[in-house]
Amino acid sequence: MNNNIQNVSITGIGMYVPEKTLDNAHFESYLDTSDEWITKRTGVKTRHIVEKGTPNSDLSYEAAVKALEMSGVAPEELDLIIVATVTPDRLFPSTACTLQAKLGAGDCGAFDVLAACSGFIYALSIAHGQMALGNVKKVLVVGSEVMSSIIDYNDRGICVLFGDGAGAVVLENVPEDRGSLVDYIIRADGRQGEILYMPAGGSLNPTSFETVKKNMHTVKMEGNKVFKLAIKHMAELAREITQRNGLTLDDIDMVCIHQANIRIVKGVMSALHLDMATKSYNNIDRYGNTTAASIPLCVHDAFKDNRLKKGDKMIILTFGAGLTYAAALMEWGIENTLQDSTAIADTKEAIEEQKITVPAGVNGKKNISMDI
Ligand code: ACO
Repeated sequence: MNNNIQNVSITGIGMYVPEKTLDNAHFESYLDTSDEWITKRTGVKTRHIVEKGTPNSDLSYEAAVKALEMSGVAPEELDLIIVATVTPDRLFPSTACTLQAKLGAGDCGAFDVLAACSGFIYALSIAHGQMALGNVKKVLVVGSEVMSSIIDYNDRGICVLFGDGAGAVVLENVPEDRGSLVDYIIRADGRQGEILYMPAGGSLNPTSFETVKKNMHTVKMEGNKVFKLAIKHMAELAREITQRNGLTLDDIDMVCIHQANIRIVKGVMSALHLDMATKSYNNIDRYGNTTAASIPLCVHDAFKDNRLKKGDKMIILTFGAGLTYAAALMEWGIENTLQDSTAIADTKEAIEEQKITVPAGVNGKKNISMDI
C-alpha cells in the first residue's frame, strides 16, 4: 500500500436484523432434517427473516443510521455510499441510490457492488481507493441482504443456511490513533461460477413463465465443493496478507471469517494453527449465513461483546459466489461505548422488544466448538 495516503479508518459501525426468526425446529416441522444435523453440520441455530416484501434498503437504512450515529457523521456529509448485496431492492436503480434518498443524504455518489459474500471487503477496498485518490472524505459502506427472497425453502441443503440482515460502517480520514484500514486482497475465480449461482433473472435467462416454473430464481450450490475451496482460499489469503505487511499470524488479535458454516471457520483456524475460541468470533448460531452482511455483523458483535478492542489487529476473510474471495487487514480504532450500562440496558430492552429467541444451550457470546 502507498504509505503517503492519509490514514483511513472505520469510525462507526451499525447492524440490523429483522424481528422474525426461524429456528431449526421450524425446518424439522416440514423437511427431512433435524436440529442435530443442522447444528452439527453448519452451526446455525436460528436466523432472522424479513416479512415478505420488505426491501433490502429498509435493512440497509437501519444499519446505516446506527453507523452514522456512532461516527457522528450526518447523512448530508457523506461523499459516497456503497451497498454490497446480491439481493438488491431491484436490478436498478441500485439499492445504494434508494438508500441515499431514504437517508436524506446529498447528491453523493452511490452504487452497489455484487461480489456475494466477499462484497463487503470488495466495497471497503473501493471506498478506500476513492479516499486515497482524494475524491471523497466520508464514505458509508453497507453489506445488506434479503436472502429469504432467493431461497428455495424446500431445498434442505440450502434453506437451513441463510438469513437476512445488514451491517454498515462509516469510513473517514482520521489520525492513526483512531485505527487504520491497512490492506486488502480481492480475488475471483470465474471458472467456478456455477458451483454457487442463481440461474435466472439476468440477461442470460430473463424472467419468464418457464424460468419461474423451473425454479431458476433461487440459489443453487454444490455445497461440498464450495466448502473445500472456502477453507483453502481463506487460509491462503490470511497468510498472504500478514506476510506482505511484515506481520505473523501471532500478531493478529482477531480473525473474523465469513459466517457460512462453523466447520469452515474451524477448518480455516485449524489450517492457520490459531485458537478458535480466543482468536475468532462467531455469530452464525444467531444469524446463519447473511452473505454480504455476514462480515459487518460479525465485526459488530465482536466489538459489542468486547472481544474486539481498540488497538487490536484484525483480519477479515470472505469467500462466496463468483467465486470471489477476499481479505482485509486493519487496526480497530473505536473505544467500546456499546458496553456502558445504558447501552447494555438499551440492548436488553431492544432484544426483549424484538422477541429474539435464543434456543436452549446457545450462548451468543460463546463460540461453538465442534468437529469438522
Ligand atoms: N438436513 C439433513 N440432511 C441434509 C441437509 C439437511 N438440512 N442438507 C443436506 N443433507 C444431506 C445431503 O442430502 C446428503 O445426503 P446423502 O449423503 O444421502 O446424499 C448429506 O446430507 C451430505 O451432504 P453434503 O452436501 O455432502 O453435506 P456437507 O457436510 O457438505 O454439508 C453444507 C452441506 C452445509 C451445505 C456444506 O457443504 C457447506 O456449508 N458448504 C459451504 C456453503 C458456503 O460456504 N456457501 C458460500 C457462501 S453463500 C454465497 O456466496 C451466496
